[in-house]
Amino acid sequence: MNVQNVSGFQSEQSRKSAIVPGYMSGFGNSFETEALEGALPIGRNSPQKLNYGLYAEQLSGSPFTAPQATNQRSWLYRIRPSVKHSGRYVKVDKGLMRTAPAAREESGLPLGQLRWDPTPFPDEALTFVTGLQTITTAGDSDTQVGMAAHMLLVTHSMDNEYFFNADGEYLVVAQEGNLRFRTEFGVIDIEPGEICIIPRGVIFKVELLNGSARAYVCENYGGAFTLPDRGPIGANCLANPRDFLTPVAAYEDKEALSFLFVKWGGELYRTEIEQSPLDVVAWHGNYAPYKYDLRHFSPVGAIMFDHPDPSIFTVLTAPSETPGTANVDFVIFPERWSVAENTFRPPWYHRNLMSEFMGLIYGVYDAKPEGFVPGGFSLHNQMLPHGPDTTAFEHASNVELKPVKLTGTMAFMFETRFPQRVTKYAAELSTLQDNYIDCWKDLKKHFDPNQREPK
Ligand SMILES: [Fe+2]
Repeated sequence: MNVQNVSGFQSEQSRKSAIVPGYMSGFGNSFETEALEGALPIGRNSPQKLNYGLYAEQLSGSPFTAPQATNQRSWLYRIRPSVKHSGRYVKVDKGLMRTAPAAREESGLPLGQLRWDPTPFPDEALTFVTGLQTITTAGDSDTQVGMAAHMLLVTHSMDNEYFFNADGEYLVVAQEGNLRFRTEFGVIDIEPGEICIIPRGVIFKVELLNGSARAYVCENYGGAFTLPDRGPIGANCLANPRDFLTPVAAYEDKEALSFLFVKWGGELYRTEIEQSPLDVVAWHGNYAPYKYDLRHFSPVGAIMFDHPDPSIFTVLTAPSETPGTANVDFVIFPERWSVAENTFRPPWYHRNLMSEFMGLIYGVYDAKPEGFVPGGFSLHNQMLPHGPDTTAFEHASNVELKPVKLTGTMAFMFETRFPQRVTKYAAELSTLQDNYIDCWKDLKKHFDPNQREPK
């Protein structure tokens, strides 16, 4: 493996450095990088002959004719063209992976607000491919709308196994343990608090760095994730483009029997190849995997009164054709100060056109201090009411409103315009809490027509 200055970006020390070795800074830039000097052709994409005997190949993440703002493609300069990394495909067991709209008929679980405890790690060896467990699906991957929410449990590194997903891009939210993504474009390491985005079609394998790992995964069938418009917030805060990191080129020149797994049309296929497909020596373009440290998100919120909509915490959005109506929003609830005066500070009670899959990376979520634990997840589907539990309501309604810092916490939401269908697997998990809705049962009637002023 030739890895150009790859660092794990693990320590406080390295995080203090503005330049992170092994990565290039920026969101959606046209990057260029080479692991061998002179491997990138200058001023053209496809010369008659390439240096080092490489092949040129384009990977298109959008139609050729997509508007400039959403046009995505990269040029890869590789040891072999991808056709050599593809033999005859055989259909294999897809395990617990499901793809919309397949889950519609699978679960007979009645409608309801749902919450699960963390799925325990099994004894069996699970890789990124076999460890993906679909919890919900929404929309239809064939028409490139909607998403799936998966839990990922990895207990085993991929060795001569590689994978790509033609059905969508993956947004991986590390929750426990570190993950190393060796991709065609280079190497990305993430730890809890960081996310990694693998675009549709990009080949990768996943290795463990410090024991088993758990992550939440959003599979976005729609247009690629991008930064949300900030509107009146202006040019700064929320997720800043410079904090997104794309890996420098790194390649494997390895000849060994290998297996490439492909998720395509909701099914899983395997093809046998004679070498590593991670053989890209140099590349340029704007279609590439990247990572982001959620702790670099600069929250903006109410500094006088009231509670803004959670859209102020949008890290990335996958837009639909309807302005402001996301195919998927990825929203976080990070550390922040809570300072609003005469305000019910937790999230308000509400019902929503969008459906909300939530997870907790670490700490305590302010609206659900009990029962929603790190590694667990909840689902508040389209138009189903939800909000703070009784404990949170009573506390927030009566506490003295001094400035309070919500520390050591990171929750997130995959929010989509489509209803999320629960898979049979998720419906039958023993970790599904059968008493979740009881968190609201003790909310009392306070109404008194003869008592105008609050007590
Ligand atoms: Fe909500």
